[in-house]
Amino acid sequence: MLKSLEDAIKYRGLLFLEVFEAKNQEGILSLEVSDGFTWYSNWSLDSGVPPIKSFLVRRIADSAHVFLAIKDAMIVGFAVVIVWPKLPGCKMLEAIEVAKTFRGGGVGTKLMSAVVGNLDDLLILTALPEAGHEEDLLKFYRQFGFIVLTRSEVRPAIMARLPNDLEKLKTLMGSVEKSFEDYSYERFNTKSVLPIWGRRYAPWLNYDYDIFISLEKEIKSILDKIG
Ligand SMILES: CC(C)(COP(=O)(O)OP(=O)(O)OC[C@H]1O[C@@H](n2cnc3c(N)ncnc32)[C@H](O)[C@@H]1OP(=O)(O)O)[C@@H](O)C(=O)NCCC(=O)NCCS
Repeated sequence: MLKSLEDAIKYRGLLFLEVFEAKNQEGILSLEVSDGFTWYSNWSLDSGVPPIKSFLVRRIADSAHVFLAIKDAMIVGFAVVIVWPKLPGCKMLEAIEVAKTFRGGGVGTKLMSAVVGNLDDLLILTALPEAGHEEDLLKFYRQFGFIVLTRSEVRPAIMARLPNDLEKLKTLMGSVEKSFEDYSYERFNTKSVLPIWGRRYAPWLNYDYDIFISLEKEIKSILDKIG
């Protein structure tokens, strides 16, 4: 990744495909947007601004991480990472899309490499594939270290990528365990119920706990291996 989107536009013209994290709205507004974005186009609220630009500009205003794949000074792909409020310090891949004519040429891979190369936090995502690409999408995310936490016939797969940093992993384990205790306290007015026997019943009580139980298992297996 080059250092700044603005410098790259100024000095290189961006004839080749490059991926940047956009730090301000001006960078985004100065670029063209390719045709062929369909997935998140209806998330726009601003009339007169192309839907994808409007969505990306809003996310910058919300302090999200916005990664752009740019070719010929045109946005051909993007990935947006926001805060995941359910656990401290965790993030969520909210959106990723490559314009249709650019798919299959490695643009999505470049975007995801920038995301995981720059953000070593717990990253959660909900896999929402196009019809016919269900397995392709899971395979795509697995390449970057994402694992399936929960999946059923009626709910889309929730995937996660754990941080590589050991201290972050331990902190995450602490946060997951604390959330079990907090929930137990909220629900039963005691800290001990959920941590001791309630994990088995937690998914029926609160959907998030399906995710947390699976997360706890994955983190524990890594920490056990490390010793
Ligand atoms: C998923 C997506 C971002 C991948 O971008 P890309 O530039 O095509 O990806 P790459 O060229 O780097 O990688 C290609 C891989 O993506 C997978 N892929 C191709 N088209 C796909 C599609 N429509 N949906 C999911 N995965 C797809 C293929 O498995 C391919 O692997 P292969 O090379 O082994 O065949 C892109 O296909 C897309 O924008 N899809 C529509 C929006 C979407 O599904 N977003 C995710 C919502 S959670």
